[in-house]
Amino acid sequence: MRILVETVNETQEIAAKLAKNVKAGDTILLSGDLGAGKTTFTQGFAKALGIKRPVKSPTFTLVREYQTTQFPLYHLDVYRLGEEGNAEDLGLSEYFGGEGVALVEWSQYIKPDLPDDVLKIVFERVPNYDTKRVITLTASGDKSVALLSEMEK
Ligand SMILES: Nc1ncnc2c1ncn2[C@@H]1O[C@H](COP(=O)(O)OP(=O)(O)OP(=O)(O)O)[C@@H](O)[C@H]1O
Ligand SMILES: [Mg+2]
Repeated sequence: MRILVETVNETQEIAAKLAKNVKAGDTILLSGDLGAGKTTFTQGFAKALGIKRPVKSPTFTLVREYQTTQFPLYHLDVYRLGEEGNAEDLGLSEYFGGEGVALVEWSQYIKPDLPDDVLKIVFERVPNYDTKRVITLTASGDKSVALLSEMEK
């Protein structure tokens, strides 16, 4: 599924729609360059779940946890692992496929920890348009296929 958005608001509306349809155990990977919109998307997602605390990327920790009425939301940003190179045995897999919902920025650095069933969302800037983004969603298993089909409605 591919969507062209023109504003921050539209990005956050997509995030809100996804948030309304996620279930405990869902894992969402957010990909794209620096400044593409991954954290902005996460903020819209969290807001739609009623999270009042400001959502900012974890830096010194790799994960921030937020409570919702339905499940814990885990926001992982593992960007700094890329610079450090080796990212094995971090125990991050406990965040995936369990009772919570996980959103992961820079997931390419923790590939061995990731489950097979993920909804992958890629953010791409559109040249010459500051606020336009192409958002591409791809599912890779039963749970993510179900989630994506809800999004398509
Ligand atoms: N349509 C849009 N969707 C998302 N962000 C947008 C959009 N238009 C402009 N922006 C701006 O682009 C920036 C995106 O920053 P954000 O922190 O979300 O990126 P990121 O992908 O998380 O980057 P990083 O890899 O550094 O964590 C913000 O300043 C946001 O206001
Ligand atoms: Mg970010």
